[in-house]
Amino acid sequence: MTITIDLTGRRALVTGAGQGVGRGIAMTLAAAGAEVGVNDLVTDRAGAVAEEIAAAGGAAHEAVFDVTDWDAVQGAVTAHGPYDIVVNNAGNAGRPDTMGMEDLQPFIDQDLAAWSGFVGVNLFGVMHVTRAALPAMIEASGGKIVTIVSDSARTGDANVAAYAAAKAGAAGLMRSVAREVGRHGITANSISLGSINATERPQEVEQEELGRLISRYPIRRRGLPSDVAHLTLFLVSDLSPWLTGQTIPLNGGYSMAL
Ligand SMILES: NC(=O)c1ccc[n+]([C@@H]2O[C@H](COP(=O)([O-])OP(=O)(O)OC[C@H]3O[C@@H](n4cnc5c(N)ncnc54)[C@H](O)[C@@H]3O)[C@@H](O)[C@H]2O)c1
Repeated sequence: MTITIDLTGRRALVTGAGQGVGRGIAMTLAAAGAEVGVNDLVTDRAGAVAEEIAAAGGAAHEAVFDVTDWDAVQGAVTAHGPYDIVVNNAGNAGRPDTMGMEDLQPFIDQDLAAWSGFVGVNLFGVMHVTRAALPAMIEASGGKIVTIVSDSARTGDANVAAYAAAKAGAAGLMRSVAREVGRHGITANSISLGSINATERPQEVEQEELGRLISRYPIRRRGLPSDVAHLTLFLVSDLSPWLTGQTIPLNGGYSMAL
């Protein structure tokens, strides 16, 4: 017996798909046959990934909008949807323009204005996109929602308190949504990531610090976008109809719990 994952005929929206983890997810869902809505805040990034998918023989459309803007989200989902699959990937641990390393500070030192940035994209963004996509999924009696969160939301981590709080909120949202819409054949799960080697940061962590980080991972490397894409593919496929409301750690064994 051969098991294949075929998403032909499904339409998927991947937020923040213009680079890094989201790009990897978008490319993989398209390779499995889905038509992918490539969302990003940055027009050029969304366009480049949509072109890359088309060049590889897949189907994609650009969906440029800011997930923090409810009107923009609703307008785009109405224009480009309906979607059978939503992957809430857009998120950041700091300001998107600078990659925000300067936003990573102890909670007590953090500028209060930075909080709304973290909560805006990592929690409200997920609420907006999920809220906009759900009515069509309910109408269709089926759908798959996956939200990318962070292990910092489960284990806590210094210097990312507001980010971790927003990610924990997003995972909580998935659990409640899963309870509300399971009877419509819709699943909603979160993937909780350890450190992913996805995007070059302007002020990337020092090599020495990186070595120390990797030594704490039983699988001695950082994750790759493909690691995230393959678990996402399983969660949005027909292989996982009874898996819902879960926060699945994907971290090379960095954190383990019952
Ligand atoms: N990279 C890691 O080590 C890591 C670890 C844990 C969790 N995560 C999570 O994984 C996801 C992807 O991370 P990444 O490293 O690929 O990020 P990234 O910063 O490389 O890419 C994020 C993309 O999202 C887009 N984006 C940002 N704000 C947006 C908005 N408001 N609306 C639409 N698009 C927006 C950006 O333009 C960018 O292209 C994020 O949710 C992040 O919090 C990443």
